[in-house]
Amino acid sequence: MPIESSEITPEKVYKRRRILIAAGVGVLGVPLIDKAYGIFQEKQDGQMPFPKVSELPNEQSQPLVPTPYETITSYNNYYEFGFGKDDPSKAAKTLTTSPWSVEIGGEGADKPGIYDIADIKGESAIENHIYRFRCVEAWSMVIPWNGIKLSEVIKSALPNSKAKYVRFTTINDPQQMPNAGWAGGPYVEGLTIEEAMNPLTLLSTGIYDKPLEQQNGAPIRLVVPWKYGFKYAKSIVKIELVEKIPQNTWWLQNKREYGFYANVNPKFNHPRWTQATERVIGELGRKPTLLYNGYAQEVAHMYPDVENRLYFF
Ligand code: MTE
Repeated sequence: MPIESSEITPEKVYKRRRILIAAGVGVLGVPLIDKAYGIFQEKQDGQMPFPKVSELPNEQSQPLVPTPYETITSYNNYYEFGFGKDDPSKAAKTLTTSPWSVEIGGEGADKPGIYDIADIKGESAIENHIYRFRCVEAWSMVIPWNGIKLSEVIKSALPNSKAKYVRFTTINDPQQMPNAGWAGGPYVEGLTIEEAMNPLTLLSTGIYDKPLEQQNGAPIRLVVPWKYGFKYAKSIVKIELVEKIPQNTWWLQNKREYGFYANVNPKFNHPRWTQATERVIGELGRKPTLLYNGYAQEVAHMYPDVENRLYFF
């Protein structure tokens, strides 16, 4: 079947991803084996079936060492400000993040409205969560987020029976963003309503108790720790409760390589690189990637078939 032009990753994007992946995979060679993740290593080496969720180690009890603030704020993906990892921290200061409002609506919301960011933050308690962060490009960090539960925002919009999915739209302003529209429109992401209501899912407003920097998606961005980083829509301007599955940006860019669910899974490789291991930014070597990025206990119940590739790309 011929490839539609809409399925082809723009050349610059493709080359950028290839260069980065080559740098991460080619230089480091044999992955480091961390005993704590032995259960996964055994599976990768010996092709054993996945363990049952009840057999998984409780990943949350393992201490996570947060990545330094300087790294989190200088190694970024925010293509509206350029395709290089250091472009957003240099270019994104032009984005005005105050005042800022978020439109909440869609056919699934009985109480739509336009809310000032201060009202959204003020309605719910700010929580602190240290989560693993895993990019689809096979690198990772550990990020101490500040934010509110997305479920609180959804509840206040009074969801009705049409609220089956949540669609996020981010700012797309050529006046403020040198590379606005790289995706042919605003960056869009989506979740099922169940995923959006999961207590792990956050709307982040800060990192390390500091307000989000523009390059990290100020003033408000999505955080879904069991999914690949491209799901974490930055600088959100609209949240809609909708009946149909949203068409997310990376799926539209390349339907064969990026999907809607994008749950982290070491078993299903990206067509162009392995997802079995990851490069921890700031550390030497690679470590095994965890099913659902280590959050299986909290999220596996949402995906009835762990062998179904649909949930993992
Ligand atoms: N949101 C917008 N609007 N534009 C983007 O290019 N990149 C995504 C996601 N959110 C992106 C975005 C990707 S691919 C990743 S890995 C994460 O943001 C990176 O988040 P970070 O730079 O804070 O680490």
